[in-house]
Amino acid sequence: MFNFDLYLPTRLVFGKGRIDELPDLTRSYGSKILLTYGGGSIKRSGIYDKIKELYKGAEIFELSGIEPNPKITSIRKGVEIAKKEKVDFILAVGGGSVLDASKNIAAGAFYDGDPWDLVLDSSKIGRTLPLFSVLTLSATGSEYDNSGVISNEDTHEKMPIFGNLWPVASICDPTYTFSVPANQTAAGAADIMSHTFESYIVNQGNTLTDGICEAMLRTVIKNAPIAISEPENYEARAELMMASSFGCCGLLNIGREGSPWVCHGLEHELSAFYDITHGVGLAILTPVWMRYSLNEKTAPRFANYGVNVFGLDPKADVMTNASKAIDLTAEFFKKIGLPSKLSEIGIDGTHFEEMADHVRKIWFGDFKDAIRPLEREDLINILKGSL
Ligand code: NZQ
Ligand code: ZN
Repeated sequence: MFNFDLYLPTRLVFGKGRIDELPDLTRSYGSKILLTYGGGSIKRSGIYDKIKELYKGAEIFELSGIEPNPKITSIRKGVEIAKKEKVDFILAVGGGSVLDASKNIAAGAFYDGDPWDLVLDSSKIGRTLPLFSVLTLSATGSEYDNSGVISNEDTHEKMPIFGNLWPVASICDPTYTFSVPANQTAAGAADIMSHTFESYIVNQGNTLTDGICEAMLRTVIKNAPIAISEPENYEARAELMMASSFGCCGLLNIGREGSPWVCHGLEHELSAFYDITHGVGLAILTPVWMRYSLNEKTAPRFANYGVNVFGLDPKADVMTNASKAIDLTAEFFKKIGLPSKLSEIGIDGTHFEEMADHVRKIWFGDFKDAIRPLEREDLINILKGSL
């Protein structure tokens, strides 16, 4: 068992109608609000009007148009508003992109310089604005973690930001995800599964978190197809939303061998160059990385996954089960409508070397610590194998 720290200071406020409690939750923080959101889904779903009604007496400043794979240019605008209006807190309403951008804004509001500096060097993060979130898409876990991922179009970089960036509270109402289209529901499911794999597929785990990871995977595999075919199925949306919050918060990693989150490192490079949907990139890369990592030493881990998640015969040959589990993973992503090759989404090998060099330079994990240790050429091979 490895040593660990687990600190989860965010209040998850889960369930239908819980947004009504937001004014009580924010009361002691003030009444000048920076409301951040994306391209308009919150207006179509009625959440925007609901917030205006809940905060009738408050001063609300708005940053709209935060894009998927949020760009530093949007964050700069948000920081400018936060500083000029001296807002008391940020209310982020949307998916991971809105929440991540808001985390960078929260830190940028007290930083005397460009908020991109905080992405490049998290030690520059000091005081932050309190952040509250209303989640509208089950995927990233940003509602329950201390990180974000920010893109810089000028430098073709998409990089994580880490720090004291926990939301104070996150409203998680599954009904707010009823309007998420099938493709985003599927991408979100792949993201939750990938967060789980990144923690689960290591050489040394432990009984408790192996079991939690397997339950996470079973939950998504069962409920994503239901949510796609019945978008207003509350139980399925609720199961996905609950799983979303535990993917990135650290719970899945406790007491386990560290993992460099290989697929996330590579996917962020793909998104940086091609602005693709995060979960789509992960669904393509994950089975390829698994297959690349499969050998005599790693087979038992993949075989256990096959037995405990897909119900494969525990008495069957370990390598056969391991290989089957990887095939079933790829089949599942295909079944929920996700592409299985980079070439299907217009990506060729032009930038693979650059991507491998960049991710090795900036990533928080050392790829040599992966279940199968990976060098530069291995990263390029995984990208090529995904074409
Ligand atoms: O912009 P709007 O109009 O809101 O539309 C969004 C967007 O077009 C739409 N959407 C969101 N909620 C909806 C909805 N449409 C209808 N009904 C709703 N209820 O969905 C589209 C995608 O939204 P986005 O926020 O980009 O998706 P997601 O939540 O998957 O976030 C992806 C971003 O999070 C990062 C990813 O890299 C990517 O940049 N990640 C953040 C992490 C974290 N903070 O810990 C970890 C993840 O691994 C991930 O890297
Ligand atoms: Zn992710």
